[in-house]
Amino acid sequence: MDDIKHSNTHQPEHSRTNYDDQLDYGTPASLSAKLVTLNIDDREISVPEGTSIMRASIMAGINVPKLCATDSLEPFGSCRLCVVEIEGRRGYPASCTTPVAEGIKVHTQTAKLADIRRGTMELYISDHPLDCLTCATNGDCELQDMAGAVGLREVRYGYDGENHLKSAKDESNPYFTFDPSKCIVCSRCVRACEETQGTFALTISARGFDSKVASGINNFLDSECVSCGACVQACPTSSLIEKAVIDHGVPEHSVTTTCAYCGVGCSFDAEMKGEEVIRMVPNKNGGANHGHSCVKGRFAWGYATHQDRITTPMIRKSIKDEWRPVSWEEAIDYAASEIKRIAAKYGKDAMGGITSSRCTNEEVYVTQKLVRAVFGTNNVDTCARVCHSPTGYGLKQTIGESAGTQTFDSVMQSDVIMIIGANPTDGHPVFASQMKRRLREGAKLIIADPRAIDLVENSPHVRADYHLNLRPGTNVALISALAHVVVTEGLVKEDFVKERCEWDSFVLWRDFVAKQENSPEALADELGVDANLIREAARLFATGGNSAIYYGLGVTEHSQGSTTVMGIANLAMATGNVGREGVGINPLRGQNNVQGSCDMGSMPHEYPGYRHVSDPAAKALFESAWGSPLSDEPGLRIPNMLDLASEGRFKALYCVGEDIVQSDPNTQHVTHALEHMECVIVQDLFLNETAMYAHVFFPGASFLEKNGTFTNAERRISPVRRVMAPKNNVAGQGYEDWQITAKLAQALGYDMAYQHASDIMDEIAALTPTFKGVSFAKLDQLGSIQWPCNDEYPTGTPTMHIDGFVRGKGKFFITQYVPTTEKVNAKYPLILTTGRILSQYNVGAQTRRTKNVAWHHEDVVEIHPHDAAERGIKDGDWIGISSRAGETVLRAKLSERVQAGVIYTTFHHPESGANVITTDNSDWATNCPEFKVTAVQVSRVNQLSDWQLHYKTFSEAQLAFAGRDAVAARID
Ligand code: SF4
Ligand code: SF4
Ligand code: SF4
Ligand code: FES
Repeated sequence: MDDIKHSNTHQPEHSRTNYDDQLDYGTPASLSAKLVTLNIDDREISVPEGTSIMRASIMAGINVPKLCATDSLEPFGSCRLCVVEIEGRRGYPASCTTPVAEGIKVHTQTAKLADIRRGTMELYISDHPLDCLTCATNGDCELQDMAGAVGLREVRYGYDGENHLKSAKDESNPYFTFDPSKCIVCSRCVRACEETQGTFALTISARGFDSKVASGINNFLDSECVSCGACVQACPTSSLIEKAVIDHGVPEHSVTTTCAYCGVGCSFDAEMKGEEVIRMVPNKNGGANHGHSCVKGRFAWGYATHQDRITTPMIRKSIKDEWRPVSWEEAIDYAASEIKRIAAKYGKDAMGGITSSRCTNEEVYVTQKLVRAVFGTNNVDTCARVCHSPTGYGLKQTIGESAGTQTFDSVMQSDVIMIIGANPTDGHPVFASQMKRRLREGAKLIIADPRAIDLVENSPHVRADYHLNLRPGTNVALISALAHVVVTEGLVKEDFVKERCEWDSFVLWRDFVAKQENSPEALADELGVDANLIREAARLFATGGNSAIYYGLGVTEHSQGSTTVMGIANLAMATGNVGREGVGINPLRGQNNVQGSCDMGSMPHEYPGYRHVSDPAAKALFESAWGSPLSDEPGLRIPNMLDLASEGRFKALYCVGEDIVQSDPNTQHVTHALEHMECVIVQDLFLNETAMYAHVFFPGASFLEKNGTFTNAERRISPVRRVMAPKNNVAGQGYEDWQITAKLAQALGYDMAYQHASDIMDEIAALTPTFKGVSFAKLDQLGSIQWPCNDEYPTGTPTMHIDGFVRGKGKFFITQYVPTTEKVNAKYPLILTTGRILSQYNVGAQTRRTKNVAWHHEDVVEIHPHDAAERGIKDGDWIGISSRAGETVLRAKLSERVQAGVIYTTFHHPESGANVITTDNSDWATNCPEFKVTAVQVSRVNQLSDWQLHYKTFSEAQLAFAGRDAVAARID
């Protein structure tokens, strides 16, 4: 198996993953620095103190039989298959639960041990169906392997006695099955759910013969289970098994790649049969996930072969026309001719491009290069505009680098964890599992969020020490109040500040936050939070040991998003919580490649590596490398492009992998702008909402169909590897997305002569100091690399700012709280805030086309029972939500998770129209939309909103224009 594992028939030169040791050592590694030497079967070996005899044996190349042990879980010692003899000790201890000791002599293979093991296996097999030949995991079953390993040839007990062979299967989960008849009650699933995932959905009920695995009340689907797959991964038999393996059989080879969903960036082995993915198995050597996964990366990849995929290029003159499927050549020539026509008629600044954080680094790089070097304008922007652009700005200003400071593993050294405006168990689930493990070990937790996220008190064995449930839009006031306590109660780490920061900026900031107006007492009413809670939380953060801040879009998507980011940096610097393990400023990036898309120069004012377009040296460097004159004027941001388009002054857009109609605020403004453009080119997998306003559609390749890299929230660059040929194959020509962009450049007269995505990374490395040492070959060797990676740090930089800040000295900024102009009043008395849910991903284009809809098939509005009662709203009622921007209708869900006066919804389904109601308000520095604060009114209704009725008609017509869903609708 190992010989063919990780072979990649498409791109063999970049397929090896020799960092990838998948051997199961039975028990976790010991972190002790002290070595112990022992003798096992006449082999001398030295291992860290605390190592189990089982692990030491396997490290010495000796295979000890095992069933209940696996190296991702703490040893349990239930199966007794791993017994050994130790000279001078009585009995037959289990090697998984017995630690090594200096000088002991261990025997793993004796006649007596063989006898014990055969007897144990005989008992297991006597209550196990002997249907190996027809079993889905035949050839991939540890029970089968162990029967062979102990030499079991016959079972003396027969099958006539009491057994579990007729137990009913639980097939409720869309992705995996539980067959109790195959269960050996090893408890690996239960422990995986507890230790790895932290959900505690499973138990072993009853005792002795009657003991069995139980999930919640009825079945997996209705239980607490979040379908992470850890139990399936841990199960040594086919008791818990993926339905895809039952349907298609055991995979034959695998390729290591990276999840295309969230900013955690989990590493997976795509396990294949020929060109078909059978399952995605989390890679135990993945730097971000260590073998864990969530329901999206593990199971929700079926969209890649969904029938809704558009795989043929299409063009049309007007959005009122039917689409015409054409060859690649015709589509690219048509797009190029339109760009040339528009450039000649309206000028180059009437054109631009938008990249997506779903794109690889290489795709983002070539797209911004196309816009800058070929279109001749800096009008290129990315979807980070609407999520983490304030992070880029705020961290650059304060600490000098637009990125998080830590690794995810750093959280295991944290004593105090502060989460502001993030919901890790839904948004970043694999990291949340790691964080929960640290919290179960005793770390303290402070949560600042208007809503009671699961970590407040809804996660087993985890409870927030402080929940500061502030009103939406008051983050800056909260940060100032926390800082006020730190400064006025003498909790500043002055040594750190003196040595590492600009003292003058600190003094100005200190005097500012010390003002009475910034005290918790002065701000308590504005925040809606008890002043004492704020004081206690601030003291804990400043004095509790290693304190780390994790934040998300609840910080950035505000009119003062950048101010809050700077406030977070101020707080971390003032308390000395930057520059070592366990602390730091950690933006939790939403999409898989938010960090990378920003790194790659997709903002209108910056080249790759965050160098300003007006910097003469940077401009000269890129002009020389790209062979084109470049503009030193920052280009248009997305909202500026849309505003100008509405005025008829912006005419052509190349939009790669991004769906601005669904994901940007004030939908009706976005669609109005698109309707006024003359050439909208969309490159995507599906006819998304933006494509309905497009004139050219380039069918993209899914993450399984291309090579490249993603950069996650911890600056970790991870390989994306092609496991199947692109589906956009027309007459023998299928392309990865960067190739489509390169072909468009070619048609516009500019040569992008890359042969492979690795060539693009080589160019990035040559032009970007923080990427200098990055190459596909090194990624294959190391598995992943956290930038900066250069001569000084050839294998990357896990923790930043250790000896000094990237900008030299850290700089404090005054963070004056300015309440948002989006005010509640008698007409709009409630605040709407938005977020996302575990099973769905952003605009839902991918996850809605998977069985994940079993958990979330529509967006609903959470409303506090008090607000609902005032309006006569009951759970499940349709309610109209109106704001200054628009109106939509969603189903109500009564919930005390939201505070009175606040409602909450997700935005995963386009027909929900969540962004029809969000406004154009945005962050003062970056134009990141104020998604988290919209003043609204709600009332019971019994029909869809006007916008939703229009949407239904329009989208049905557009689908028909593309020959989809055969709705014979037409626009007049
Ligand atoms: S379901 Fe699998 S992992 Fe769980 S107890 Fe049974 S055999 Fe062990
Ligand atoms: S899938 Fe995950 S959450 Fe569900 S029972 Fe298994 S380990 Fe627990
Ligand atoms: S969605 Fe995020 S947490 Fe889940 S598997 Fe993918 S990268 Fe990991
Ligand atoms: S593997 Fe050691 S007791 Fe089961």
